[in-house]
Amino acid sequence: MFFRRKKETIGIDIGSSSIKLIQLSETEGRYTLEKFGVAALAPEIIVDGTIMDSVRCVEALQNVVKEQAIVTKDAVISVSGHSVIVKRVTLPQMSEEELSESIKWEAEQYIPFDINEVNMDFQILSTFVGPDGKQQMNVLLAAVKKDKLTDYTSLIIEAGLTPVIVDIDSFAIENMYNVNYEINEKETVALINIGAGITNINILQGGMFAFTRDISIGGNRYTESLQKDLGLSYEDAERVKKGEDVEGVDSPETETIIENVSAEITSEITRSFGYFKATMGSENIDKVMLSGGSSQIKNMEAFLQERLELPVEFINPFRKIDIPPSFDAGYIKSITAIAPVAVGLGVRRLDDR
Ligand SMILES: Nc1ncnc2c1ncn2[C@@H]1O[C@H](COP(=O)(O)OP(=O)(O)OP(=O)(O)O)[C@@H](O)[C@H]1O
Ligand SMILES: [Mg+2]
Repeated sequence: MFFRRKKETIGIDIGSSSIKLIQLSETEGRYTLEKFGVAALAPEIIVDGTIMDSVRCVEALQNVVKEQAIVTKDAVISVSGHSVIVKRVTLPQMSEEELSESIKWEAEQYIPFDINEVNMDFQILSTFVGPDGKQQMNVLLAAVKKDKLTDYTSLIIEAGLTPVIVDIDSFAIENMYNVNYEINEKETVALINIGAGITNINILQGGMFAFTRDISIGGNRYTESLQKDLGLSYEDAERVKKGEDVEGVDSPETETIIENVSAEITSEITRSFGYFKATMGSENIDKVMLSGGSSQIKNMEAFLQERLELPVEFINPFRKIDIPPSFDAGYIKSITAIAPVAVGLGVRRLDDR
């Protein structure tokens, strides 16, 4: 065939509060949204990034596949959290083949798990001459615990799909950003994605990976605090958190509880920024780009702006993606905050790395 089409894939972001499924088509580097479905997951199905109830999780996935009338079987998925390690390390210069051979030994000191229990991948970012005059290189190292990989890929297989790529949430967010935003060579941008259980932080310098960290706090913390302090059910606490009225709940008290959790999340972000600055020298962050379901907490943007003393802007994961008129504008608005990881997975095709 002369016009061999790249094989179509679907992106599936298995978040702890919902599964997001996306299908994008591509023509000459431009993407069009074909499908986007969301399947809510009850809080006990995935806990702390571990699939506790795979039966219900598979069911939810199958439902959304059916609802969206998905034909493609090839799925790109991602993992995140404490079973995932992403590090930028400096190694003596060697070829990609040589590094493939020795990566296990090189990586051992950077990975806090048994090296035989992880799957590893790497990417050579740049080469430079070290202070001793020897050639060195910056390498991006990614390791995921094998049992985590098996849990997530089994889920996809049980739902009747084929996992063709397993990515990492933070890389997917980086991909999503680079597809949608112009890169300013001189700018350092922090992408902050506040989910339910995890907040992903990505720092890009001139569009290139500089730092990433997943912190184990997100929207669930608001719900838990509201439940505990106000004696609410999970459902009511979720509603209060989203600014809905719940009988007998008074608002000044809620606001204090919400603000305390926002402060907690912000201080974790500040700590990560501090760590980034300490390890990279005196690098400044120019702005924050915000996403994730929990970025919709009332006043979150202003709160972060004030505490971090940085401009904060919401990410639009569909900024450069064509959305056919068949999609309802209200629906697109409702998925914008939660779509970044899915979009980053949806743009991946089988023949890319
Ligand atoms: N309008 C809103 N206001 C505040 N919080 C909201 C709102 N809408 C959704 N959330 C919260 O956002 C979170 C879900 O966000 P998201 O879909 O990004 O997380 P996830 O991918 O399911 O979780 P994770 O990646 O952390 O496992 C939930 O905690 C939910 O309660
Ligand atoms: Mg998520």
